[in-house]
Amino acid sequence: MKYKSDYDLDKEAIRILRSNEWGGYTLPTQKLYPYQWNWDSMFIALGLAQFDLNRAWLEIENLFNSQWQNGMAAHIIFRNKASTYFPGPEVWDTKQNPPTSGYSQPPIAASIVLKIYNMNKDIGSNFIKNLFPKLFNWHKWFHTMRVISGGHAIAVTHPWESGRDNSPDWDEPINNINSNAELSFNRLDLNLIDQSMRPSDSEYEKYIYLLEYGKKTGWDHAQITRDGPFAVADPGINFILLRANKDLLTISELLNKNKHKAEIEKWLSYSENAANYLWSDSLNAYVARNIRNDVYTSGISNVSFLSYYAGISDSINVDRHYSTLIKFINNTKYCIPSFDSEHHKFNPIKYWRGPVWLIINYMIAEGLKNYGLNEISNRIRNDVRMLIKRNGFFEYYNPLNGSGLGGKNFSWTAAIWLAWASDS
Ligand code: DGY
Repeated sequence: MKYKSDYDLDKEAIRILRSNEWGGYTLPTQKLYPYQWNWDSMFIALGLAQFDLNRAWLEIENLFNSQWQNGMAAHIIFRNKASTYFPGPEVWDTKQNPPTSGYSQPPIAASIVLKIYNMNKDIGSNFIKNLFPKLFNWHKWFHTMRVISGGHAIAVTHPWESGRDNSPDWDEPINNINSNAELSFNRLDLNLIDQSMRPSDSEYEKYIYLLEYGKKTGWDHAQITRDGPFAVADPGINFILLRANKDLLTISELLNKNKHKAEIEKWLSYSENAANYLWSDSLNAYVARNIRNDVYTSGISNVSFLSYYAGISDSINVDRHYSTLIKFINNTKYCIPSFDSEHHKFNPIKYWRGPVWLIINYMIAEGLKNYGLNEISNRIRNDVRMLIKRNGFFEYYNPLNGSGLGGKNFSWTAAIWLAWASDS
């Protein structure tokens, strides 16, 4: 097997990021995702920062230029017209300018902002000052609009909000949705990617049903969380937000924002409770849990191990969780599958039901390093290097044989290469 050199891959990764650039923002990939996506853009900024810091800051500023009055940073920003994506801005009808979707996405931004600031504090100082209140308002939105009274776990109110659209984590809550509505729509993703790698039609019906529900409330986020058909505590969002709150706290200290700092500390004090809510004694892992009925999902996803990235401090379950991680890592040729490969729902090519996603690997590996677990952290990085060297820059990869899946010339994969996996 011939592998590409790091040097050639660096050049290719930069070419991908440049060719997916659309003015001041970058598409995840052309045609399949022809707009600006929230967490994609943040990982992309980290990649851009390796060769063009100003451009990286512009990517982040542009995302937050579309922030809602109530603090939400939306998951898609529809800046240009594109005929290859459904559901487009007219379906969402959020009445924002620029038009956006009506749900959010994992809040990785504060952590990336701190990382890029630390690369060059002179260039970053003004950007960080302007961004701080926006990041703060977004986190506040999560802690007010996405919590259900009495609990501290953050809810996702649409599978798209989790970023892990068709994970088996959503099967139970989605099956509970009683939708009699006649919905007629035309999926455009299947013109570009084989259905075997994408969510099913019945899942799409639920996705659109939930979108229509949000629209009917006039995009009232409190109502959607309180009364809506879907509210699930997701280890992904909870752990990413926990880590982002720690990084936002550091930024508040840099900027002497004492009042904000006190509020962020309060959010952090909720986090251990939220983590406990997600812990499953029978699965020995942090797993998604349906807030409406307290039911745990039936299996383990890769985001369980973002607890290391979040830096969960004194959990009594640390050893048990670590054994689960080792099993997960050893069970497939390439780690870390997005869903437990021993579970009957595991599917090595179907989007979030098994394939490896490099952004999740990156966060988990970073977290493990902070615990001094360098050997496994390096093992994860090495697998990522092999996946890219053998196959190039795909959206996700088959954990059993390494083949590239989904969209090609994928921006966040190129970014992860430049920021973390490349040796050059
Ligand atoms: C899609 O359209 O597949 C996206 O994942 C939604 O965010």
